[in-house]
Amino acid sequence: MISTEAIEKAKDHFAKLLVEQLKRVDQIKSGEDWADYSRLKPIIIGVVGGDGIGPYITKEAVRVLKYVLADEIKNGKVELRDIPGLDIESRVRVMKPLPEDVLLALKECHVILKGPLTTPKKGDKWPNLESANVSMRRELDLFANVRPVKVPEKGIDWIFYRENTEGEYVLGSKGYNVTDDLAVDFKVITTPGSERIVRLAFEYAKKNGIKRVSAVTKANVIKATDGKFLETARRVASDYPDIAFDDWFVDIMAAKLVDEKRRKDFKVIVLPNLYGDILTDEAAEFQGGVGTAGSANIGKRYAMFEAIHGSAPRMVDEGRAIYADPASMMRACVMLLRHIGFAVQAERMEMALDICGQLERKVVLTGRADGATGAQFTDYVMQTLQDRSHRGAKL
Ligand code: IPM
Ligand code: MG
Repeated sequence: MISTEAIEKAKDHFAKLLVEQLKRVDQIKSGEDWADYSRLKPIIIGVVGGDGIGPYITKEAVRVLKYVLADEIKNGKVELRDIPGLDIESRVRVMKPLPEDVLLALKECHVILKGPLTTPKKGDKWPNLESANVSMRRELDLFANVRPVKVPEKGIDWIFYRENTEGEYVLGSKGYNVTDDLAVDFKVITTPGSERIVRLAFEYAKKNGIKRVSAVTKANVIKATDGKFLETARRVASDYPDIAFDDWFVDIMAAKLVDEKRRKDFKVIVLPNLYGDILTDEAAEFQGGVGTAGSANIGKRYAMFEAIHGSAPRMVDEGRAIYADPASMMRACVMLLRHIGFAVQAERMEMALDICGQLERKVVLTGRADGATGAQFTDYVMQTLQDRSHRGAKL
């Protein structure tokens, strides 16, 4: 028996979502200017420790950040500010993914360094709140999730431009149980939302002399939304005649990233939210795992920098949090520094990370007691930075 009442209720629910989404489209279209960090004093960097291993690795990354920004902190150009209240206990206390006072505090910062946050899912010990990450990306309109993966010895030098505010995520907590037996989720792709991410990817390619941009969809099956993303990507590509454009379906792209002969050819990869989520974890694995990868969430007004991995509660439960790899958060700091215009400091920190994590590897983390602690690795990074600056060597 088909319940017309259930269908009518579902239609009401859907109608409300459409109103919200159409408003969002108008907002994107109205646009705003990009923040100009050179004019800000101080540039406020908000620091969110996060859950699980988050506070451990964030603390270590902040040590290095303070070291490379010592002059700027002293002369008042930069301020580091702790933003409490985003841990899962606090979110559950007010039953909000992003408590209002925390959102206000975040909005008083210009950029944010964020440790991983627990994302509850059905069946967990926590109520099934929306992910704080997803909520923050949406509330601060951080539409571009930029994730570089580099493995020089394998010729891998990829940068993923993952759309960060749409796709399966934007209404991920607003799906609908029409009856006990029928659940429906929604995927949303908009023309201006696709256009801005694809354009950013092409602009990056153009500025860095990269001759190829690849889009990833599943437009052969998900026709309306992925079809729109692909169509928009093709249109934007035509504005960049010097840059080659090609498109791939996500399944074969997942395979090609493992193909040693072909994968070197990929450079800039632009893709909708969920495919970006999945492929960037796969890609990070070639570089030494998700623990080594940072991620930038860029919007016009705000930007947030984080590790690409989760809060690893198992490591905490097993007493291994001190062995968590802080390199992902340090890579996030490098991206943050570059974003706010401190290219020299970013370079120094990146070079020290390459030396410590890939070239020299005198201190190695395994995530367990047979390896170094995050603090020991950080000491090694700091020592490397100090050695180089004493020698006056240009890092
Ligand atoms: C990521 C994470 C998040 C995502 C989770 C924690 C919500 O996996 O940043 O890739 O799916 O985007
Ligand atoms: Mg992910």
